[in-house]
Amino acid sequence: MTYEPVLLARIDKPDSHRLEGYRADGGYQAFERALKEKQPIDVVNAVKDAGLRGRGGAGFPCGLKWTFLPKDHPGPIYLCVNADESEPCTFNNRILMERDPHQILEGVLLACFAIKSSRAYYYIRYEYGQSYRVLQAAIDELYAAGLLGKNILGSNFNCDIYLHRGAGAYICGEETGLIESLEGKRAWPRIKPPFPAIEGAFRKPTIVNNVETLACVTQILRRGKEWFQSIGVPPDPKNPRDAGSYGPKLYCVSGHVNKPGCWELPLGVTSRELIDKYAGGVWKGRKAKAVVPGGLSMGFLTDKELDIPLDFNGPGKAGCLGLGTAAITVVDDQTSMVDVLHNVCQFYAHESCGQCTPCREGTGWMLKITERLARGQGRKEDLDILIDIADRIGIMPGTTICGLADGAGWPVKNAIRKFRSEFEEAIKSGYKRQGRSLPLVGAH
Ligand SMILES: Cc1cc2nc3c(=O)[nH]c(=O)nc-3n(C[C@H](O)[C@H](O)[C@H](O)COP(=O)(O)O)c2cc1C
Ligand code: SF4
Repeated sequence: MTYEPVLLARIDKPDSHRLEGYRADGGYQAFERALKEKQPIDVVNAVKDAGLRGRGGAGFPCGLKWTFLPKDHPGPIYLCVNADESEPCTFNNRILMERDPHQILEGVLLACFAIKSSRAYYYIRYEYGQSYRVLQAAIDELYAAGLLGKNILGSNFNCDIYLHRGAGAYICGEETGLIESLEGKRAWPRIKPPFPAIEGAFRKPTIVNNVETLACVTQILRRGKEWFQSIGVPPDPKNPRDAGSYGPKLYCVSGHVNKPGCWELPLGVTSRELIDKYAGGVWKGRKAKAVVPGGLSMGFLTDKELDIPLDFNGPGKAGCLGLGTAAITVVDDQTSMVDVLHNVCQFYAHESCGQCTPCREGTGWMLKITERLARGQGRKEDLDILIDIADRIGIMPGTTICGLADGAGWPVKNAIRKFRSEFEEAIKSGYKRQGRSLPLVGAH
């Protein structure tokens, strides 16, 4: 099946980031129609009926989240745009922000109109300098055109967007970590409840949405729910709790492939299709040993699991945490899973914010053990100790404040359960990591 991209349709046009070109392509008409012809609840219902699920990692239904805001709240309500994008191997938000910022900003305006907010905080990953500059220029264009500020297009709707540069840590992407950081504090996630919809930024009701989610809002309001539901995977009739996986998705592919990149495809494409058809196959004529299906925190698929659909349900059926950010990373068959896991553990031990003892200590222990394995000093019992630690940290076992710990444990459990014989062989033979030397154990 050939799929015609919508979210990425404009990215190769000259000046795709400018307001003039965006408007020439029909941009801001959906917003203007909403202002003139719709009530906020109509926009909420349009998004809810389309079945849009959040693209930031958790897949929570977007319209439903909007309805959690208190009704007839007298004070301010805020929208926070989550553009922190620090999940390893994920770069779809960056492409949208650099190449088609107005598509996102139209979604921000529509979302603010829907949730009756007159202020959006756009929290952008610190390292994304180019995205920051492009977005600020796009916001300036909107003020100059009367599409931001007071009485937009002669209506009684006011809206301001504040672009806020992030603090440069993975945890700033967790929604309450983001809010704390926005408020000028260390990005320590908050205990929930209360969820941000009740008490968020500056203790006011707040909706946090991902960049790609908001780009989808624009397209839903422009093209309608039928269009959105004609793409992707409908709910599983056998599972009453399944909300389906409708719409397009931006899949990033990186790692050991010939042509890394980002492709817009219907939700439900397989890793095999992404690798072979789009990313030019595994590099150097090798085979895939493992694939990360949706950002590192989701765990691993084996070469036997490459035909699993990458929708909101597929990776979970193969023991992964979920679809996550749909960022695929390919590990070739000449790469040691010991080295891969050691890299993974380095990341999480470095990024744990340290508030919860199980996460702070657990990620550190997992790093020390995988470092021992990578030095050729692994012990037989290390594998079970790693699984035991991974099983005990996270929201799911109920021991931590946020999901970073679940995401740190999942790849460890998955790697050892799915590639146990390789780890055992490495311990037996005293395998040592090749290439760059290892730092001293615990020197992080
Ligand atoms: C450790 C951690 C990091 C996260 N990083 C991001 C991120 O960079 N971008 C993002 O949109 N969501 C991130 N999330 C998910 C957010 O908490 C939140 O669910 C999301 O922004 C909601 O937007 P959505 O409903 O539009 O998907 C992260 C979650 C965790 C636990
Ligand atoms: S789980 Fe980890 S990252 Fe999340 S709040 Fe606790 S210590 Fe911080």
